[in-house]
Amino acid sequence: MGRDDRTGSPLVFRGVTKRYRTHFWQRPVTSLSGLDLEVRRGEILGLLGPNGAGKTTTIKLALGLIFPDAGEVRLMGRPAADPAARARVGFLPENPWFPDDLTGRELVEFAGRLHGLPAADRRRRAAELLELVGLAHAADRAIRKYSKGMVQRAGMARALVADPEFVILDEPMSGLDPIGRREFRDLVLSLRDRGVTVLFASHVLADAEMLCDRVAILREGRLVDVQELGVLESRRRILGWEVEARGGGPVAGAEEVSRRGEERLLRFPPETDAEGILAALRGAGARPVAIVPRRETLEDLFLRVLGREEAA
Ligand SMILES: Nc1ncnc2c1ncn2[C@@H]1O[C@H](COP(=O)(O)OP(=O)(O)OP(=O)(O)O)[C@@H](O)[C@H]1O
Ligand SMILES: [Mg+2]
Repeated sequence: MGRDDRTGSPLVFRGVTKRYRTHFWQRPVTSLSGLDLEVRRGEILGLLGPNGAGKTTTIKLALGLIFPDAGEVRLMGRPAADPAARARVGFLPENPWFPDDLTGRELVEFAGRLHGLPAADRRRRAAELLELVGLAHAADRAIRKYSKGMVQRAGMARALVADPEFVILDEPMSGLDPIGRREFRDLVLSLRDRGVTVLFASHVLADAEMLCDRVAILREGRLVDVQELGVLESRRRILGWEVEARGGGPVAGAEEVSRRGEERLLRFPPETDAEGILAALRGAGARPVAIVPRRETLEDLFLRVLGREEAA
């Protein structure tokens, strides 16, 4: 194994286009157009976009399950379909289907066998992982009797069986209740702490917000934006300013929302800035207690980013 495999980016897309042809007489559907994207070692990258945006297509290409019509996909420094690359990657599919007479424990042990783990290691690993995903109590129950969220957890344990360096998860939070989502987040963060790289797809922005380092936003097969989450958040528009002040008279340019004794809550319009607010307070003989910008939600920004592409 070359040095590059260990040190380079786990996943690289260069100019990748994928078209699906459903019938030979129909025009092919372009699911992905000219995708350039790099998943960096050790990061959690969220692949976001509405239904049909191309997230699952991207993941299938990454794993060499389907092939691009143009461009190149490199996984662990190798062609995506290379089994040596695939062996170092854990995968949770979008709608996992498992032979449902297997128990959770058998599912994970069987996956360990496919990865060539010796029997004793498989048993130990299955027990550890089922504990980790909160399924220890149901380890010997048939998957057919699992709830949707339990199947999702079993799939996660299976994805981790061979101690992967890179984990690819397609809609991993679907079917999880709020506690499950939180546990899932903690699990993914603990993977990152151990140096594991994570790519996950979701159409739910809140999922990405709670764990991503970066997000890539897809729309109709095109990459609209790739950005650090913090940078994206700072791009949220300011809708106005909430200011707490103490003492003084009427403040120019502000609406007084409430007053309690000397303390007043004021609202300034978005076009002001902190300096302008301080000057207005000073002019009124009022002292600032707190100046807080009120921003649009990340959800609003997300919809705006998706809409911008439409206008272009
Ligand atoms: N096997 C296929 N044959 C034909 N078209 C397909 C096939 N798979 C996907 N597509 C089309 O490719 C586009 C992208 O689909 P994809 O499954 O990648 O979207 P997605 O972002 O994962 O959506 P979702 O949020 O619903 O999972 C869609 O227009 C879809 O209809
Ligand atoms: Mg999908």
